[in-house]
Amino acid sequence: MKVIGIMASPRKGGNVDTLVQEVLDGASEAGHQVEKFSLNEMKFSGCQACMFCKKSGRCKQHDDITALMDEMEGADAVVFGSPIYFWQFCSQFRTFIDRMYMFLGSDFKVRLTPGKKAVVITSQGNPDANMFRPVFKEFDMVLKMYGFQIKGEIHLDSGENPSTARMRTDLLKEARSLGMSL
Ligand SMILES: Cc1cc2nc3c(=O)[nH]c(=O)nc-3n(C[C@H](O)[C@H](O)[C@H](O)COP(=O)(O)O)c2cc1C
Repeated sequence: MKVIGIMASPRKGGNVDTLVQEVLDGASEAGHQVEKFSLNEMKFSGCQACMFCKKSGRCKQHDDITALMDEMEGADAVVFGSPIYFWQFCSQFRTFIDRMYMFLGSDFKVRLTPGKKAVVITSQGNPDANMFRPVFKEFDMVLKMYGFQIKGEIHLDSGENPSTARMRTDLLKEARSLGMSL
């Protein structure tokens, strides 16, 4: 099985990165092929709303996201990871979500093969674990619309310090076993 990680935090080795990596390490331990993509290191623009994809099934733009979308089409499982910035996912992740519009036909028929597995990782500074539940729920709706089966989610709170995830052995364990269960 091919498992890819889409990691949106600009902090390499930070909380989201640590937890996404742990899921991928678990998947690798279970014998799956894994690869991680760091959105912050990729060059890409926002969706131009040109609707080219509605007829062609492809995005008119040729940038790093074009290749990532090909990877997503070929993956059996995707680990999505983003920090929370201003009550939302960070801009790198939100821009990536907009580009997923290419997987919808003009009739809103989904073009992505259904049944891919998904894991969602988030990290926030706020200690209130319930504060951003509506954001997580909205993304779950996007994933479900695209036919993903959500296998698990890990939402780290109190994560101002990028090393927080490395000290949360409970979450590291959860992330690894999620990866192994994919
Ligand atoms: C521009 C910016 C905006 C942020 N906004 C919020 C916020 O609205 N709520 C919150 O709880 N944390 C907020 N944070 C804190 C991050 O969500 C937190 O540090 C998170 O753990 C970062 O994850 P990382 O270590 O993977 O980068 C913000 C951080 C930045 C840089």
